[in-house]
Amino acid sequence: MRAAVFPGSFDPLTNGHIDIVERALTIFDRIVVAVVTQSSKKSLFSVPERLEMISHHFRGSGGKVEVQSFSGLLVEYVRQVGASAIIRGLRAISDYDYEAQMALMNRTLSGGIETFFLMAREENAYISSSVVRQIALLGGDVSKLVPPFVETALRRKFAEGRPIG
Ligand code: PNS
Repeated sequence: MRAAVFPGSFDPLTNGHIDIVERALTIFDRIVVAVVTQSSKKSLFSVPERLEMISHHFRGSGGKVEVQSFSGLLVEYVRQVGASAIIRGLRAISDYDYEAQMALMNRTLSGGIETFFLMAREENAYISSSVVRQIALLGGDVSKLVPPFVETALRRKFAEGRPIG
């Protein structure tokens, strides 16, 4: 049973994240989507809201996709859930520095946990949660970037007059 953790902010879940999970499932038996609770980033959606959105999308996965929140060091969490790998998506070369630093640091800290990178599909290469939040805030169409229920949640959030972080 090969398990991997896909960590991130997921604020909100995008089609880019979904594609990475689906493709990771062709390599790993179980993917734990892990929403970080301690982050320097100001969030639009609360952690429970993000967990709910991700769980809703993967409800038909037959237990292959688990959704949890985590705090503290990622490598410790990865061990706790019985996984041995971290999954991250890469879009452009601009992602590389940050991702390489995290992957090397996580390997140094853990002494064995490997990070696997999946290249985003071309059609998802420009999608990021922050771009999605901005477009939604400005009333733009995000229907090709996120699942319909995320689009609805974004509309509702901005209708509440919630400022963007
Ligand atoms: O989606 P994001 O915001 O790019 O995800 C960043 C995340 C959650 C992967 C990163 O911040 C993280 O791993 N945080 C946990 C704390 C930790 O282990 N830090 C050391 C990693 S170098």
